[in-house]
Amino acid sequence: MKHLIDIQSISKEDILNIINLAREFKNGAKKSDVAQKTLALMFYENSTRTRCSFEIAAKKLQMNVINFDTLHSSMSKGESLKDTMENLYFLGVNAVVIRHGYSGIINNVLSQVKYPMIFINGGDGTHEHPTQALLDFYTMLEKTGGIENKKVAIIGDVLHSRVAKSNIHLLSKFNADIHLCAPAYLQFENTEAFNVKYHSDIKSAVEGANIVMALRVQNERHETDGYPDSSEYKRLYEIDTDLLKRYAAKDVILMHPGPANRNIEVSSEILDNKLGTTILEQAQNGVYVRMAVLNTLLKERKEV
Ligand code: CP
Repeated sequence: MKHLIDIQSISKEDILNIINLAREFKNGAKKSDVAQKTLALMFYENSTRTRCSFEIAAKKLQMNVINFDTLHSSMSKGESLKDTMENLYFLGVNAVVIRHGYSGIINNVLSQVKYPMIFINGGDGTHEHPTQALLDFYTMLEKTGGIENKKVAIIGDVLHSRVAKSNIHLLSKFNADIHLCAPAYLQFENTEAFNVKYHSDIKSAVEGANIVMALRVQNERHETDGYPDSSEYKRLYEIDTDLLKRYAAKDVILMHPGPANRNIEVSSEILDNKLGTTILEQAQNGVYVRMAVLNTLLKERKEV
């Protein structure tokens, strides 16, 4: 692994190596191999969990961190992303985490930048969010022991969700039984491209599920006004304690990448009870998984 662009193109072995290393960082058994290297965080879309956990991860690894100010950089004077990256490289930046609304931004930058910077996808458009899927997998393993043949129900706005796509790629590699549930207007268009089962009825999707993953309704990506209002969505697709108690497996875990729309895709009540705590543990595990990603990618790289 030279970069982390997506889950689709990395191997099971790469994934397991990151998970094992994350576990060592969490247990305090592993020290940083990348102290004094420099990470830039370039977030062109808003973020709490991904940006802060990368910053905390880098600081735990004794790295230097630059929070690149996307609003006030010289890109506002017309400088290209390629020129920006190449200047950052010569300033001493070893790796960059990019979050951007454009799907495929990392491959685009990689094809232009001539110097050996390391690029990490922090979520690009509706394409992928690989570190989210890795921290989700870490949390699933921690909570369930293994996901082979476990029923994972992913509920919500799968059409716009980079989290869903990264998770589907990862869960497929580890032979989970993947079920998607979304209203017709929020489903993938090319359904046959993914080895999943579709449900329009949330009860059948959740029936016997070991893991239920709620997705955020991404109002900002709904370009047309053809979407039903949120009260209709809530009526048909909101996940609450009663639904999980009646239909899911007894030891079901509830996950959500965050940020959650309370009382739209998940009830406020479930977020604040015991089932909701896994969602905060996901965020916490993000620190250790991102430490593992940074350590793995930056370990062998020479200084500028
Ligand atoms: N899950 C996730 O990517 O959250 P943020 O947008 O807060 O980073």
